[in-house]
Amino acid sequence: MKPVFVLNGPNLNMLGLREPEIYGQETLADVQQVCEAAGARLGFPIDFRQTNIEGELVSWIQGARGVACGLVINAAAYTHTSVAIHDAIKASGLPAVEVHLTNVYKREPFRHKSFVSGVVMGVICGFGGYGYVLALEALSRIVIQTSKN
Ligand code: DQA
Repeated sequence: MKPVFVLNGPNLNMLGLREPEIYGQETLADVQQVCEAAGARLGFPIDFRQTNIEGELVSWIQGARGVACGLVINAAAYTHTSVAIHDAIKASGLPAVEVHLTNVYKREPFRHKSFVSGVVMGVICGFGGYGYVLALEALSRIVIQTSKN
């Protein structure tokens, strides 16, 4: 089975330290661990990455084409600004799920706009690290369905 790329954008390396009243105590290493456990249960390897650099995220999405079976992406602040990430997801031709730890619709209005939502299968937000597990479960159904067609 090809891996699922779980890609994380800027400042997510600061989880656990960063605004714990908003993001909680969970670290990115904790999120990686739950993703790897979910991947093992669902039957696909997880390639888990984080970067603070927009272009690196774009290159990773491009590199997933033909290599990964799908994408789980938390583009963090770039969600709200990046046409380049929108275009890269579209060009990858891969099923993708957008994840946010927080419910972005309960937060500032500038977080209500996503350049990612229009090019993914669905969006999960507001459930912390557990949202990544939900995203992997949704993706596994899509990947299994597509492989049957
Ligand atoms: C986030 C929400 C974004 O608005 C914010 O810029 C982040 C994290 C989340 O996971 O809740 O960095 O993507």
